[in-house]
Amino acid sequence: MAQKVTKEMLSKRRIFGIISHPDAGKTTLTEKLLLHGGAIRSAGTVKGRGSNKYAKSDWMEIEKKRGISVTSSVMQFEYNDKIISIMDTPGHNDFGEDTYRILTSVDSAVMVIDAAKGVEAQTKKLFKVCSMREIPIFTFINKLDRQGLDPLDLLQELEDALGLPSVVVTWPIGNGMSFEGVYDRLLNKVYLYRKDTVIDLGANGVFGDKLEGVISDANLDTLRNEIELVDGAGNEFDMSLISKGKLSPVFFGTALGDFGVTQFLHHFLEMSPCPGVRKAVTREVSPYEEDFKGFIFKIQANMNPAHRDRLAFLRICSGVFERGMTVTLSRTGKQLKLSQSTHLMANERETVDEAYPGDVIGIYDSGNYMVGDTITAGKEKIFFEPLPTFPPELFMKVRPVDTMKAKHFQKGVSQLAQEGAIQVYTNEFNDCILGAVGELQFEVFKFRLENEYNSEIRMESLDYSIAKWIDEKDVEKVKKALNSRCTLVFDHYNRPVVLFANRYTFDNFAEKNEDIKFMDALEVASFIEE
Ligand code: G4P
Repeated sequence: MAQKVTKEMLSKRRIFGIISHPDAGKTTLTEKLLLHGGAIRSAGTVKGRGSNKYAKSDWMEIEKKRGISVTSSVMQFEYNDKIISIMDTPGHNDFGEDTYRILTSVDSAVMVIDAAKGVEAQTKKLFKVCSMREIPIFTFINKLDRQGLDPLDLLQELEDALGLPSVVVTWPIGNGMSFEGVYDRLLNKVYLYRKDTVIDLGANGVFGDKLEGVISDANLDTLRNEIELVDGAGNEFDMSLISKGKLSPVFFGTALGDFGVTQFLHHFLEMSPCPGVRKAVTREVSPYEEDFKGFIFKIQANMNPAHRDRLAFLRICSGVFERGMTVTLSRTGKQLKLSQSTHLMANERETVDEAYPGDVIGIYDSGNYMVGDTITAGKEKIFFEPLPTFPPELFMKVRPVDTMKAKHFQKGVSQLAQEGAIQVYTNEFNDCILGAVGELQFEVFKFRLENEYNSEIRMESLDYSIAKWIDEKDVEKVKKALNSRCTLVFDHYNRPVVLFANRYTFDNFAEKNEDIKFMDALEVASFIEE
């Protein structure tokens, strides 16, 4: 008899994604959160910095060379009886697709903003994904130890640039050289920077006399003016808006100085949701359902050179996971025994025997899974909502330099396609064509094929920029209509795709072939379910 999911199991768990423009301080904040919580598990990359090297992953040299975070990782820590999983996301724009998928697995998001820079390009993009999912978004405005923008202007920017109303939870007292601490509006307390002192403000809050002589007169004046404005004209605290991502609780601090982080964590745990109902294509799935169900949002091969294995990252959505259980892969109907499961750690492997909704675990994959797959221990054929796919805009023909090593090449290409690292197509001549959103994806692909699969490759850029999926029944019609500015290929699922040189070529083609239905990457995701 399967174990039942209890309220206690769920209320303990939090799973959130952390997003920011590169350099805003996402890694530093993550490190500090792990420190506060005594990290129990961590995986992948929190970039090694100074002596704070958390589970630094050495499997992807390219990250070190380029100084960017290409991969994403999962880190778990315990704090005040809560089990918290942080999903880090790749910072680079070219890996937006990976980020999208990661964000489908979380229940809330933390957006880190550099106080001196405000809302930046990548913040906007990532925010959009979170807001599409209607998950709560918490804002941490970082680097208060440096001269930054006016905090009121920063709130205005959230509203103007992101359309995100905010509600102040903590507020900075000064900034840069004059940074003296934060005021917690909800707890009515002031925390002093570098002094380890907490001041309970009493009935009159910042307008009483508790701060007089404690912080500089100039800062106290400014604080009172600002809080008067925030109290008078700012948004009211509204949990129902927060939970839909329509109102963002805002916090200020310095991740590097490890200040304002505890206050953030405290409120975040109060306000963020525990694992709840998840949408599947046909119905909603409650975490309390007895049958174990989950979906795979990431596949990563060769995370650890010593193991050379392939792990599927599984977000558990309902029921209890028990090692050794047999599940059905909804896409193929295949039955699989989950006998090898692990917490996600970079250098060590610790077997997981049991896991609950809101947990992310790694299951060893011998090539059965694809990103977006649903698995279930029940009989019902169920699919969680398809993961978003980006339309590829760059295409390359790729072949092995040494044809004797074609097998290595095939294996590498196929595995990287299953991981969703890049899109892979073939044409009628059996050429291998790659589709990507950004150039760096090609670079990583080449690097990984050479390093992990021992296959040196040659790539040749192709003059296409649009991919449109078509129905099987239209293949012959398309073949007859093809011209020198478009070509027919098949994707990793063997679905027909037409690549066009540009929008003009596509419009022209579509006009002449009105009866053919062209679909873009997002529309086509639901194909997989059929
Ligand atoms: P990211 O993951 O969002 O890309 O940012 P990351 O944490 O790597 O931080 C980017 C830079 O900003 C780092 O400096 C980091 O030390 C610094 N930083 C992070 N939080 C704060 C803060 O609260 N105050 C200040 N003053 N700096 C902060 P770096 O010089 O690029 O790296 P490092 O030499 O410190 O490792």
